[in-house]
Amino acid sequence: MRLAITSDIHIDLNGHAVLDALCARVRAVQPDVLIVAGDIATGATTFLSTLLALRPCAPELLVVAGNHDVWTSPGARSQGIDSWAWLDKLLPALCVEAGAHLLDAGPVVLGKVGFAGSLGWYDLTMREHLLDVPPDAYATGRFGGLMWNDHRFAFFDDGAGRALACDVVAERLRARLLDHLAALDCSRVVVATHTLAFERQVFRKERDAWRFVNAFMGSLRTGELIAADRRIELAIAGHTHIPSDQRIGRVRALVSPLGYKKEWRAPDVVGAVEKALAVVDL
Ligand SMILES: [Fe+2]
Ligand SMILES: [Fe+2]
Repeated sequence: MRLAITSDIHIDLNGHAVLDALCARVRAVQPDVLIVAGDIATGATTFLSTLLALRPCAPELLVVAGNHDVWTSPGARSQGIDSWAWLDKLLPALCVEAGAHLLDAGPVVLGKVGFAGSLGWYDLTMREHLLDVPPDAYATGRFGGLMWNDHRFAFFDDGAGRALACDVVAERLRARLLDHLAALDCSRVVVATHTLAFERQVFRKERDAWRFVNAFMGSLRTGELIAADRRIELAIAGHTHIPSDQRIGRVRALVSPLGYKKEWRAPDVVGAVEKALAVVDL
């Protein structure tokens, strides 16, 4: 079974020329399954048009939500549309409409391989302990002149109009992923999360702003969950826009993001897309 894997295509920011190039590249590698591990597009219209464009390029299209895909606005929130509504209602409906399978909504078996996935979230287990930050910096998302945009645009309501703390969101989504894995009656499993699962996927840099943002990259507890399930052979993630492909225990941990245009290390869109689409033959 051939998988084509990417993430962080951010079509609302990168533009539809990226989508045309990605479709051409996916068709060229002829995968059985295309997996996009989140940060597809902010906003329902672009999210849907992106999936509709990708859907005919491979026999199966599997996606997980990214943090940008569940962003909401004060106006939408006043109508009850928080990030849970995006994750549990809006994105599933858009995926059904496009003929894509949203792994956040449930696992799927293709051939004899099980696929489970989740947006995941971050719980500060990846933070840099030696970084000197004010006590409320991680709760407010503010440090120096920087603001982590999820604190502005992602809002997981606690049921009483307040935002859930990030570690509570992470724990809830991890519990869902565990349920999805338990429902899979397969000896081989592929997991896709948007946020990172392993320390070795976190890119450590000197700059303080970068060190601060690393706190929001993912959860080491997700990595523990993956390591504990001996059926999992491939763990896909995104969120960081820095690619990596490494063996962690018996798991191949793959991050193959496109990222923002300004981050591309390729001369043009075709080259950037070619780099960002990993091909794995299971
Ligand atoms: Fe991203
Ligand atoms: Fe992300």
